[in-house]
Amino acid sequence: MDALAEDLSSLDRRDLLRIRRLVGGLQGPEVDLDGQRVLCFASNNYLGLASDARVIEASARALREGGAGAGASPLISGHMEAHDGLEREIADWLGCEAALVFGSGYHANIGVIAALAEQGDAVFSDSLNHASLIDGCRLSRATVRIYEHRNLADLEEKICATPARRRLIVSDSVFSMDGDTAPLEDLVDLAGRHDAWLMLDEAHAMGVFGDDGAGLAAARGVGARVQIRMGTLGKALGSYGAFVAGSRALIELLVNRARSYVFSTALPPAVVGAARAALRIAREEPARRERLWRNARRLHAGLKAGGLLVEPLESTIVPVILGEPRIALGVAHRALGGGVWGPAIRPPTVPPGTARLRLTPIATHHAAQIDRAVDVLVRAAHEEGV
Ligand SMILES: Cc1ncc(COP(=O)(O)O)c(C=O)c1O
Repeated sequence: MDALAEDLSSLDRRDLLRIRRLVGGLQGPEVDLDGQRVLCFASNNYLGLASDARVIEASARALREGGAGAGASPLISGHMEAHDGLEREIADWLGCEAALVFGSGYHANIGVIAALAEQGDAVFSDSLNHASLIDGCRLSRATVRIYEHRNLADLEEKICATPARRRLIVSDSVFSMDGDTAPLEDLVDLAGRHDAWLMLDEAHAMGVFGDDGAGLAAARGVGARVQIRMGTLGKALGSYGAFVAGSRALIELLVNRARSYVFSTALPPAVVGAARAALRIAREEPARRERLWRNARRLHAGLKAGGLLVEPLESTIVPVILGEPRIALGVAHRALGGGVWGPAIRPPTVPPGTARLRLTPIATHHAAQIDRAVDVLVRAAHEEGV
């Protein structure tokens, strides 16, 4: 245990120690954080549905009708009517033959990659992909080639240089820490040219992009050309869990081979009930999506006018790159003192030298709250010498 204590103090000395903050009450535009009421720019509850009364009521109904837990993994006795209904609704939403609900996005990514790629196959992964995709690559016994972020020339070169029985390209559609997007149209073409499958992680795009929130591939008109589309239920859909959508053969294969699906208890009915209600709202209320985007544009423009370094806005995630962890922590701490919660993201979540605040406005913030956040954040950065 002494060795662990030394590991922890080493993290602390390098400003890399992580702590958990305690949130009280509901997740919303404001939260109680360690007893202080603050504006929250820290959650992925993009559409504000985690605290929507209709979602909460649907969850309570599903709990009463289906009970507290699914009792077993889906292949034993855990696949209930609620799960089946949600899978059909997701397939309809995305215009796919079938969908499969997983315990979480992390489960989905590790399960899918390891099920589709094995020894003798090759997986090509963007260098800024989410940790769960990276871990999925590690779990598969395929050859893994990391290509430069969004660099399709590098990807193509690596594909040409890698003999493989099967080729799988994996990419976030919206990159979670940078908020930039994958060049989907070209990626789909490239995959086609090289007879490779494309797996897209749309965790930060589902609910956010597209006329009925069906994600970035749908918004860019290439949804039908992406063989494996993954999304989560715990972000814009305000609940918990994840899904993979595609052909019937893909889903049947995953039912048989994705170990994180086969060997894990199915989601509780209440969680599924919440997700189903949230999905209906996400499809039927585009005004929520418009409010989310309006807020993201307002926050981005305000920070830019305040002299902070922000890249062009490609999604509703607004990172402010600050450099060293100490500076990011300092700015986050000062902002919190002013009642604004924007979390500092440090290595290894992001590359060394790119520590940042990752700011996520949601649909239910008011314009005045965004403006107040801009004032506080710009002042905090200037006081920290940025
Ligand atoms: C891009 C991406 N993929 C997958 C996940 C994992 O999803 P979950 O939180 O449902 O495990 C996350 C975040 O948590 C993510 O940002």
